Amino acid sequence: MGKGEGGRGTGGTGGTGGVAAATDAVKQRLGKLKPRVAIVLGSGLGVLADEVVNPIRIPYNTIPGFPEPGVAGHKGLLVGGTLEEVPVLVQAGRFHLYEGDPAGVAGLPARVFAELGVEILIVTNAAGGVRRTFPGGTLMLIADHINLMWRNPLIGQPQPGEQRFPIMHESYDGELRALARTVAREMGIRLEEGVYVGLLGPSYETPAEVRMLERLGADAVGMSTVPEVLVARSRGMRCLGFSIITNPGAGISGEALSHEEVLAVSERVARQLSVLLKGVLRRMRLA
Ligand code: HPA
Repeated sequence: MGKGEGGRGTGGTGGTGGVAAATDAVKQRLGKLKPRVAIVLGSGLGVLADEVVNPIRIPYNTIPGFPEPGVAGHKGLLVGGTLEEVPVLVQAGRFHLYEGDPAGVAGLPARVFAELGVEILIVTNAAGGVRRTFPGGTLMLIADHINLMWRNPLIGQPQPGEQRFPIMHESYDGELRALARTVAREMGIRLEEGVYVGLLGPSYETPAEVRMLERLGADAVGMSTVPEVLVARSRGMRCLGFSIITNPGAGISGEALSHEEVLAVSERVARQLSVLLKGVLRRMRLA
């Protein structure tokens, strides 16, 4: 079996056993902490991991099945603790499909979060702007996504507790989005809203591809997020997502883009996003 394929019935994660082993390792380290919200940090968004109160740092090399992230700007650890008194688990460093792992690996952390009882998944990413009015530095609330990765972590036998055919209507929870808009308005943070399209990468798009994505109804383009949200929805977790638009998509501004620029802009806007996220956490009503 090639590295890019999932084995039959395993979802490419080593199956239920793989999820259980990873969950056990994380659970043991968390002790009494029962995270209710998980937050996945995208490229350059690591600052939030440093703000977790009473942090329990769990490096990926201590979690079975978690590879080391191979991308600059991505750490490799889960951080448990509290943010605004909400018990959280922050994922600093995600697994991208372009790194060559099966989709099940990209979805593995979300499966572990579900097993740990996490109810809300917050995803963040760096993305290129497809909507022409989105300059670099724009913060975008994800209204919906388009999966153009041609991969899905749910392929294979459904794991316990997962729906075979998850409903993707309102995948990004309407109530949580309304809360994010309210908090942003109150804090004076400009927040756009739009559709994120996930591509496999790792090459950035051509200008012709960006024009195509625009016609397909996308507002932002990136190489992550979709696998985690697919797993979360199959487990009934509510999702909330934010893109930091680090650059206009290829061909829009005429300037060539680079990963260094992506990281620099992301780090700048990340401070704003972490203030917004903490505001949302403060106001989240957890039953
Ligand atoms: N395209 C895809 N992914 C990205 C981009 C982009 O322009 N910028 C940051 N992540």
